[in-house]
Amino acid sequence: MKIPFYKHQLGASEIGAFSSAVKAEILTTGNQVFDFEAEFASFLNTRYCVAVQSCTAGLQLCLEAYEFEADSEVITTPLTYIATALSILQARLKPVFCDVDPNTGNIDIRKIKNYITSRTVAIMPVHLYGQMVDMVALSQLAKENNLVCIEDAAHCIEGTRENYGPASLSDAACFSFYATKNVTCGEGGCIATNSLEMANKLRSLRSHGVSKMAFDRHKEGYSHWDLKTLGWKYNLDNLHASILRPQLPLIKNKLKQRENAAHYYQKLLKDIQEVNLIAIDENVIHARHLFPIRVSSNYRDKLIKYLEKSNIGTVVNYRSLNNYSILMKKSGYDAESFKNASEIGDEVLSLPMYPQIRNEEIDFIVNAISNFFKEVN
Ligand SMILES: Cc1ncc(COP(=O)(O)O)c(C=O)c1O
Repeated sequence: MKIPFYKHQLGASEIGAFSSAVKAEILTTGNQVFDFEAEFASFLNTRYCVAVQSCTAGLQLCLEAYEFEADSEVITTPLTYIATALSILQARLKPVFCDVDPNTGNIDIRKIKNYITSRTVAIMPVHLYGQMVDMVALSQLAKENNLVCIEDAAHCIEGTRENYGPASLSDAACFSFYATKNVTCGEGGCIATNSLEMANKLRSLRSHGVSKMAFDRHKEGYSHWDLKTLGWKYNLDNLHASILRPQLPLIKNKLKQRENAAHYYQKLLKDIQEVNLIAIDENVIHARHLFPIRVSSNYRDKLIKYLEKSNIGTVVNYRSLNNYSILMKKSGYDAESFKNASEIGDEVLSLPMYPQIRNEEIDFIVNAISNFFKEVN
């Protein structure tokens, strides 16, 4: 048996939608994108969505929209993909790392206040693996300290906590449609916000800052346009949006399938004492983007190799960001910033997780993990 880390589920519907989009007159940002934005906003129960080329681009644009003074500080987590910190640096701001909760791996909200200085302008939480940060507490903290809050929701389209989803309690939330994400078009992203002013700014910033996009000029006929602001070229195009749209009505069913797979993993893994799971808090609906396990750091890399030899794909999500010296040179942190993040980052590995994974495949994976520990003990 060969079990890759991830298998996408794109098929006839996406191929049909893409082939219609290819035959249409407008390939760049147009009706496919606008329809996708409306449909995704409706799924999220958010007022506005602005589609971009990646989650990284979305995070950067959200920060750019506030025109913060250069080198202002943004508090974030060290247990995330490099993209979170890079988006802050790309906006010419300084990431400041606050350690994570030892059980969930999410930013430890109780510690954030230790990192707030007169230069802090924003907080960027990450809903790691698909479990939402406590946004009720975090948004309260942001409000009290007059800080902007931008959620990195790359892992968390479907997740909620206390019935709040991403973008409900913050200034904006950014999503990823990268190749292995729960909704994908290869590369893509989207920003959700309840602020019309923010949505308008983001729409301008994603298209260089021009007063009229190609779509408007096509619709209204040519007239000279202006450059209103110095923006970026991050707009999603109709081709990518066409692939995303057929996936939206299936999100809830696919989450059920992911939940079934996660519960089956949990049931079998209980019998392997060397394996620990990441805690999931009460009142959380987990998006089940990833299925991470923790094993002793002495064995983690050996287990990855063993599983690889058994034709089972795994990935580390993520090593703590203190492993990347180039990032650290530009960032703010103290010795405590990485204690829990490093420990989890040295112990964690993600097992294959996708809606169509079969119980026989999960049996095979858990069997291989069990055999590994029998061999090394
Ligand atoms: C937590 C997190 N943030 C941001 C990103 C960046 O997403 P994108 O590749 O769409 O820029 C990822 C992608 O893997 C991610 O996992």
